[in-house]
Amino acid sequence: MRVVVLTGAGISAESGVPTFRDAGGLWEGHRVEDVATPEGFARDPDTVHRFYDARRRAAAQAEPNPAHLALARLEQLLGDDFLIVTQNVDDLHERAGSERVVHMHGDLFMALCESCGDRSPHSADLIERPPCPNCGERMLRPDVVWFGEMPYELDRIDEALVRCDLFAAIGTSGGVYPAAGFVMVATEFGARTIELNLAASEITPLFDEVRHGPASIVVPEWVEEQLATIS
Ligand code: APR
Repeated sequence: MRVVVLTGAGISAESGVPTFRDAGGLWEGHRVEDVATPEGFARDPDTVHRFYDARRRAAAQAEPNPAHLALARLEQLLGDDFLIVTQNVDDLHERAGSERVVHMHGDLFMALCESCGDRSPHSADLIERPPCPNCGERMLRPDVVWFGEMPYELDRIDEALVRCDLFAAIGTSGGVYPAAGFVMVATEFGARTIELNLAASEITPLFDEVRHGPASIVVPEWVEEQLATIS
């Protein structure tokens, strides 16, 4: 059985990483256009660096929760027939043990050089303007996909969606495309679909099955059911 799982900020909420659109979400205190667009970065790079440096440090302090750990168990059983496509820029899937993870909106722990285009792991605060390990220029930006920019690895994601038998969306509000449209692609190519979310989302009506509850509860339950049917 080939499984694709889309995750959003909700899967990391119980790890203490704030979501974007729930009360107290990440955007509070910051207009999206100021911290999540190329124009905002060009206008005021220090504000953007401070915003992402703080998010990276917070994410480094967070721990994977039972939902991340359950998905890592499912990957152990399914191997190459399993793929996580995450909108999240934290590294909690990897720290839970997942290896097959596509970060379609980038990764807080990577930096992108505006001079040479190189992407490199980074742990220093970018507001300090560290040099690019490739070209030495001090023009690194967060390797995060901002509004108006192309998400990463869409071809690989599309290929997985058309081939999968089961598509699950976890912890996403379904408000941002192309991720919000993945359920329609999977459905069109014959997959069963399930949404595991705290509350109804904008795309809930598009799923065959919906389970509402905190990810740390509903995801391990769902994974145990999959493990029972597969093994
Ligand atoms: N368990 C499960 N779901 C939860 C939990 C939880 N503990 N807490 C919140 N949620 C759900 C909310 O109900 C909501 O539907 O997670 C979803 C979070 O939605 P958003 O904050 O919009 O996050 P996300 O869907 O990942 O945003 C998508 O938008 O801002 C851009 O690039 C950014 O990747 C992000 C994209």
